[in-house]
Amino acid sequence: SHRASICYRPIEPSDREILEQIHCDLFPIRYESEFFQNVVNGQDIVSWAAVDRNRPNGRSDELVGFVTARIVLAKESEIGDMLRYDPSKPDQTLVYILTLGVVDGYRNLGIASSLIQKVIKYASSIQTCRAVYLHVISYNDPAIRLYKKMSFQCLRRLQGFYLIGGQQYDSYLFVYYVNGG
Ligand code: ACO
Repeated sequence: SHRASICYRPIEPSDREILEQIHCDLFPIRYESEFFQNVVNGQDIVSWAAVDRNRPNGRSDELVGFVTARIVLAKESEIGDMLRYDPSKPDQTLVYILTLGVVDGYRNLGIASSLIQKVIKYASSIQTCRAVYLHVISYNDPAIRLYKKMSFQCLRRLQGFYLIGGQQYDSYLFVYYVNGG
């Protein structure tokens, strides 16, 4: 074992294969290859990677964690009505977190918390942005605990939001208001 030295950097085209592998390992949902293409090329998606500079065997630049997010128009989102809506500002936006993951062996070090902080800081820096939001499957207790600890608010439970292997699962919608919400 070694002492991890976690560092955060943008996701790059050379991360594509490992990014796809980790998504496959961590999530019950399959993502299109177009999704990974868009993430690594930064097309409509913002993302951050965590790497361990002390990781042995030439893996010091390999992803150990990531977060991906998309900017959406508030009025076109499902939470547009939960914001302090100002009709004179139709350009209001939100940051929607698509995926967040940390590989086994690097959990409980605060990496996911730091990645969420990056998203919140980024969202706060966008003048038109009112909130960061996301969906999480209802049985994912570690993730739900994390969002609550980061002061996200649970807005609602969505019945049958996910369809996985022919089974329906509920999701929770969490939101973190920025710039006055
Ligand atoms: N030392 C010890 N413990 C710490 C430290 C530290 N320095 N920093 C944080 N912790 C604790 C936190 O307090 C937290 O405690 P809790 O279990 O009581 O909530 C716990 O460690 C987890 O916080 P982080 O370390 O920030 O989170 P982690 O990096 O382990 O990642 C995650 C959490 C992303 C949920 C991870 O378990 C994972 O990848 N799971 C599989 C994929 C997944 O479920 N992703 C989220 C799906 S929802 C979505 O993608 C929108």
